[in-house]
Amino acid sequence: GKGEYDHFMLKEIYEQPTALAQALEGRIDPENGRIALENFEPGTFADISSVQFVACGTSYHAALYGSLALKQAGVQSTALLANEYSVSAPPIGDDTLVVAVTQSGETADTLNAMRHAKAEGASTVTVTNVVGSTAAREADEALFIRAGPEIGVAATKTFSSQAVMLTLLGQRIAADLQGEVPANLESLLPELEAMPDSLEALLEQSDAEAIAERYENSQSYFFIGRGLGFPVALEGALKFKEITYEHAEGFASGELKHGPLALVTPDTPVFAVFNGVEDEKTLKNAEEAQTRGAPVVAVCPDGHRAVDIADAHLAIPETEPDLAGLLANVQLQLVSYYAADLLDRPIDKPRNLAKSVTVE
Ligand code: F6R
Repeated sequence: GKGEYDHFMLKEIYEQPTALAQALEGRIDPENGRIALENFEPGTFADISSVQFVACGTSYHAALYGSLALKQAGVQSTALLANEYSVSAPPIGDDTLVVAVTQSGETADTLNAMRHAKAEGASTVTVTNVVGSTAAREADEALFIRAGPEIGVAATKTFSSQAVMLTLLGQRIAADLQGEVPANLESLLPELEAMPDSLEALLEQSDAEAIAERYENSQSYFFIGRGLGFPVALEGALKFKEITYEHAEGFASGELKHGPLALVTPDTPVFAVFNGVEDEKTLKNAEEAQTRGAPVVAVCPDGHRAVDIADAHLAIPETEPDLAGLLANVQLQLVSYYAADLLDRPIDKPRNLAKSVTVE
């Protein structure tokens, strides 16, 4: 049941420290600077030349996160919407690795993309939450995120766990392809290990409820981020529209001035995600919105320069750039939750949506 929580969604948001600890259990070894993934011996990915991630919705945002991290590690990779895959897949060969990211393991679009890739000769891995799911049975290998059951239709803890698992998988792929561990692994491992505690700290003192109240009655809600902050901006907007029924959009920070700025008014708060990568540019993009009257909510650590300039602040603990977006995402989940609660929406079962979409 929901226990002390009003909704499964809130319960599942608060379960994220545990979910991440479970995802990481036995898989990282900061003392020896290693990542160990059960089915993947070192060298497994040595013959791969490119990686394609396929997924839908929130899982697609996790896939985009994983794909960007892999690209930064020097590996050719791309994230594709599974429902576009049959018309837009890049060339697939027996040196292509296709990673299907699906919480339920039953999403028809994602299964179809994976089947197509397999038929073309690709190796397939699924990152999923459900043992015994169709994706787990059909993929060559399955990596389980161990998030525990997710009842709320809006995916929360499974997004965080998927993104973390994809970070681990990406590090393993990059190590095999490059014959040495990626340069950032040493600093990344202790921060990964600290993620459950960082999340706990964030959840204990989030101002998300006050922010949701402050910007209630806005016309639209915009989310911006760059690099690994971009999928977080997309996810922040998807969650917001899904459960509040209010208009929300996510943009790459630098895209704001290429069109969306026309929509910006004092009634369109802009949530800006800072993850320590070209933050000055994102701050400039946020200020362009602020100049047009939009309130800016900076999602960043205390003491960050953006805090002085923004109209409001959602604090995240200090961490590696590869993980900061995941902490920011949890603050945005909470904002969506409290905004939907103020509007009295049926948070766990938004209209027109199903937990698992088994039709094309
Ligand atoms: C949004 C949401 C959906 C799912 C999508 C894929 O909160 O939950 O966008 O992420 O339908 O589902 P899975 O991960 O089961 O393939």
